[in-house]
Amino acid sequence: MRHLLSTKDLSREQAVSILDVAEDMAETQLREQKKLATLRGRTVVNLFFEDSTRTRISFEVAAKRLSADLINFSAKGSSVSKGESLKDTAQTLQALGADAVVIRHSSSGAAQNLADAGWINAPIINAGDGKHEHPTQALLDAFTMRRRVFGGNSRGVALDGLRVVIVGDLAHSRVARSNLWLLRTLGADVTFVAPETLVPFGARDWGANIVHDLDTAITEVEPSVVMMLRVQLERMQTSYFPSQQEYVRNWGLSDQRMQALPEDVVIMHPGPMNRGVEISSRAADSPNSSVLEQVSNGVSVRMAVLYMLTSGDRGEK
Ligand code: CP
Repeated sequence: MRHLLSTKDLSREQAVSILDVAEDMAETQLREQKKLATLRGRTVVNLFFEDSTRTRISFEVAAKRLSADLINFSAKGSSVSKGESLKDTAQTLQALGADAVVIRHSSSGAAQNLADAGWINAPIINAGDGKHEHPTQALLDAFTMRRRVFGGNSRGVALDGLRVVIVGDLAHSRVARSNLWLLRTLGADVTFVAPETLVPFGARDWGANIVHDLDTAITEVEPSVVMMLRVQLERMQTSYFPSQQEYVRNWGLSDQRMQALPEDVVIMHPGPMNRGVEISSRAADSPNSSVLEQVSNGVSVRMAVLYMLTSGDRGEK
């Protein structure tokens, strides 16, 4: 594994290996002294062309916990506003000594293009490209599911037979795509629930069951995990559903729907949440919710990815 661009590229062995290294990293984070010397002298660049809270900060925390030097680049306030290209920006960062580049971009394929172009030698980690992929989000989600469902010492375990229902704005969700590829590789069974207008073209060939009725899905599938997706209004140039009230009524995880879920279900959301739209506050804050655990686990998973890509241990068997 030279880069992490997509979960589609990961073998089952590589995926389980990343989750296992993340468990090792999580253990180190319980110590009083959380900092490891592993990446001392290496430089990690956070190259963010699109806004982020969780991903940018958790890569920052992960790099610092591994003792790497960190350069935080945000397109806002940079020479991108003067027209500087991705190539020149990347080569500038290479000249500054980047040993790993974490990139978020609004264009699908930006991370892949950066890797293919050969402008920089460093490993590239996709931190979200348009509506295409968000591989570290899917890895932290899988890590969270594995811990919640299979317990603390689940090293070596995949997600065979786990029933996961992913609900909402599939059309604009890189999280849904990365989760689907990874969950299938790990042996889970995925059901997508969305209005027809938010089912992406071609999605019926992706290997998930696709249904429109959330109430039927949560009672018939008896899911172990329900993942609610954010309605991404900023990516919608047209109306995909008649009104917000109708969306909430049909596809929102309301207090009432929560009662119909299995008692030990795990409720997930990648954040940021539209409370009262795709998820009620009661559901988001309930003991079943893993929303904040997902954020904490993101640090361990990103430490594992940075370590495996930049230290020479690439999880190859
Ligand atoms: N889940 C996620 O990618 O959140 P941010 O946009 O805040 O990074």
